[in-house]
Amino acid sequence: MIHKTLINDAKKVLNANFQEAGFTIPSKGLYPFQWKWDSGFIAIGLSYYNIAKAKLEVETLLNAQWNNGFIPHIIFHKENDSYFPGADFHCSELHPLSSKKHKSTGMTQPPITGFVLKEMYRIAEDKEDMLQFIQKHIDKVYENHLYFYTNRDPFNEGLMYIYHNWESGTDNSPVWDDIWKTMDPPEYAFERKDTTHVNASQRPSKREYDYYLHLIEIAKKHKYDDEKIAKISPFLVQDPLFNAMLIKSNEALIELYDLLGGEGAKKLVIQQWQQKSKKGFKKLFDAELGAYIHYDLRNKRPIRHITSSSFSPLFAGIPDVEKAKILTTTMLEKFGGEDKYLCASFDPTNDKFNPKKYWRGPVWINMNWMLYYGLKRYDYKELADRIKKDSIELIDRDGFFEYFDCRKENGEPNRTGYGGGNFSWSAALIIDLLKN
Ligand code: DGY
Repeated sequence: MIHKTLINDAKKVLNANFQEAGFTIPSKGLYPFQWKWDSGFIAIGLSYYNIAKAKLEVETLLNAQWNNGFIPHIIFHKENDSYFPGADFHCSELHPLSSKKHKSTGMTQPPITGFVLKEMYRIAEDKEDMLQFIQKHIDKVYENHLYFYTNRDPFNEGLMYIYHNWESGTDNSPVWDDIWKTMDPPEYAFERKDTTHVNASQRPSKREYDYYLHLIEIAKKHKYDDEKIAKISPFLVQDPLFNAMLIKSNEALIELYDLLGGEGAKKLVIQQWQQKSKKGFKKLFDAELGAYIHYDLRNKRPIRHITSSSFSPLFAGIPDVEKAKILTTTMLEKFGGEDKYLCASFDPTNDKFNPKKYWRGPVWINMNWMLYYGLKRYDYKELADRIKKDSIELIDRDGFFEYFDCRKENGEPNRTGYGGGNFSWSAALIIDLLKN
């Protein structure tokens, strides 16, 4: 019964966030445009009850692809002054191959579109019809991966770099703090908009925004040229989540090309990427911490913190069974106390853990969704079920928010979730978890 109500409420959230231009905003006010990875998760939820909208969501995103295969992290379909930094700040037109149709940012987000297509195929009742849709769009995703392997892997390690914390998806993680220490950006004058929608204690600080803007200014100065960025950006990181998503999407593309048939050459290329990336991924495993971690390519040092991204390689089938066991032990020991919901975004035993602040501790439903399937993949059924149960309980208790306190009791008498309300991917992915 509660499940039925939750599913209906989730659909209401998604319907209210749908825009005429053919996409769904993540959350009213706070995020008024199309975000790349949000759109993918949203399409998964939509596939359960409105396959036409799910297809449109992906189609609209892919329509904004650049001529070099790049897919931007935000597509500014129309003007909206409730968000900063907007189209005028990012100036995607600086890049010679950027979309002529759509203004966007000049950075990307985790490459999930490949596995999203596969999920849509899994969910669709009319498989033939969905395969036709996939046939029409799959090469764009292939071109996107080709962009990564051509431009984002300067040392040919099979590990892509990101040049901005917003490319990671885990925007304000403490993982970036040591990189900020290597930078000294000017104090920019600008008007924050996010803190007019959300309590400032749940968002990044002004100084953190200076770093974020500074990285964009550097990229803009070089017209978003990948080669220059790789040479000079103070932020150049190999992120386990970003790379695990690429590997998961590679895997999906191989399976989908198999279903479609006749694309042997492309499949072979992806298989080679996959081999290289899985091998390269070993670099990100920290045996002492028992987890995958980030690597700071600019300063040539590992960033030794455990985050929910540390466990995301399970979703892509990257660790062997031995490493998978180590990951689950670390997860349970550090994140899995009886007083906590799984899975905090940052190590709760670390001094930098903050249960309320954007990616510095709270639980995120998209990460839980990936961990649920990742743990199932390795047959950790009990732990997977716990993550699913915790996700449902959090949404039922705190509402369709962007992120959630991992503490079962946080002392707040009128407890709610944090960040943006009526948050689309929380709604979309809970539909999947409940229907599955
Ligand atoms: C924000 O504005 O915080 C967005 O998450 C950037 O992607």
